[in-house]
Amino acid sequence: MKKKVVSFLVSGRGSNFTVVAKKIISGEIDARLGVVISDNGKAKALEIAPDFGMGSFFVDPALYSSRKDHEIAMEKLLNEHRTDLVVAAGYMRILSPYFVGKFRGRIINIHPALLPSFPGAEAQNQALKYGVKITGCTAHFIDEGTDTGPIILQAAVHIHEEDTLTSLSVKILREEHRILPLAVKYFCEGRLKIVGKSVVIK
Ligand code: GRF
Repeated sequence: MKKKVVSFLVSGRGSNFTVVAKKIISGEIDARLGVVISDNGKAKALEIAPDFGMGSFFVDPALYSSRKDHEIAMEKLLNEHRTDLVVAAGYMRILSPYFVGKFRGRIINIHPALLPSFPGAEAQNQALKYGVKITGCTAHFIDEGTDTGPIILQAAVHIHEEDTLTSLSVKILREEHRILPLAVKYFCEGRLKIVGKSVVIK
């Protein structure tokens, strides 16, 4: 089977991107690295990407008159690099139905809560404020909704009384770094099948 090309959309520090890219380089994930695209010129991930021999691009949303035009620019870069899978690794912008349609079933997101609980921004804080005892993270395919796409993998984390936003975020991130690469690995091995709302792992 031809190796899949994995590209990344990032907005920030890029720890999830780094974990996945390292596993591709080590061969633990049988794939090739594509490009890194950010909507934030200061994203740490843009600095890290060249260390992995990857092209990194700041596609500035301010330069485009519409969300669709911005996404068309990203789509062009992704296609130029023959991207099979797009990993949204801390990409803070909602992807429009246009973009989702172009990469349907080929965009994986990592979310810091057990979906469908606490979708959207500041999921760790939402969980703390709600007072749940268990939260976690979810690797899922992106669909047209906000964090509503078919779930690939989830991991649970206990919330203890002494937990703060920082300590909880650290615990969740540890699990993100475990399940996101696994979801990417399964995709690259052709083992994920979307059946309705569910993902079957073969
Ligand atoms: C992670 O918590 C991820 O779940 C969320 O954004 C954060 C990104 O962190 N979507 P990093 O940039 O991968 O370090």
